[in-house]
Amino acid sequence: MKTVLLGPPGAGKGTQAEHIARKYEIPHISTGDMLRQATKNQTPVGLEAAGYIDKGELVPDDVIVRMVKERLGRPDCRKGFILDGFPRNLQQGKALAHTLDELGTDLDAVVYINVPEHDVIDRLSGRQTCRNCGEGYHVKYMPPKNKGVCDKCGGQLYQRTDDNAQTIKNRLEIYRQQTADLISYYDSINLLVEIAGDKTIDEVTKEIDARLRTDLRQP
Ligand code: AP5
Repeated sequence: MKTVLLGPPGAGKGTQAEHIARKYEIPHISTGDMLRQATKNQTPVGLEAAGYIDKGELVPDDVIVRMVKERLGRPDCRKGFILDGFPRNLQQGKALAHTLDELGTDLDAVVYINVPEHDVIDRLSGRQTCRNCGEGYHVKYMPPKNKGVCDKCGGQLYQRTDDNAQTIKNRLEIYRQQTADLISYYDSINLLVEIAGDKTIDEVTKEIDARLRTDLRQP
């Protein structure tokens, strides 16, 4: 299964990608997580990316495309993968098609989680992430058993620096400007599977599972 998850910031891409990755036993490739890890490790890419992430702007396409290309070429992606946060604009979409072509493969589906902006703001303002293992939570919708502590590893939970009001506004603006064309592109090549994301996490998961069973483009 080779899939892309599309949707606005806070749509639940990371949350649902974790589920799909477990179910199909494929790697979850999140460009946001890769960049945050690179920033933490103070690599040249990470240091360059930090400035863009903090402002809610996109990291330059050539940096991201190189990073994803290297990741997709690894052996664990042969069986499949779920891309979360990439591609984000038409140029990245075309670069992905080119990379997959070079690898002799193609996408099976592009899952688009459609969520209204007021839900997105509510979700991002309450999101918490484990500093140690990266597990995601939400203060209202997916609270940890003990406040501020990760259920999985006991690590400390924190709020992402780009989940503040001004940066969320920028991220949404960029999403509106750059991702609409990409959604139309995947629709035009019959890969788009649109999911109504304004439901509970479990309901969205069930809807994705059902649609992937029926709509998946089989080789
Ligand atoms: P990235 O990390 O990809 O951020 P994003 O796309 O803005 O998406 P998020 O991670 O914020 O949201 P999500 O949809 O994964 O939601 P989640 O599941 O966490 O990118 C960050 C930055 O990196 C970018 O701004 C850019 O600078 C850079 N970058 C990354 N990729 C790039 C690229 N390709 N090109 C250029 N730059 C790039 O859910 C959110 C919260 O809601 C959680 O708390 C969750 O528990 C909760 N929740 C989830 N689903 C539901 C539900 N159904 N009901 C209630 N709550 C829910």
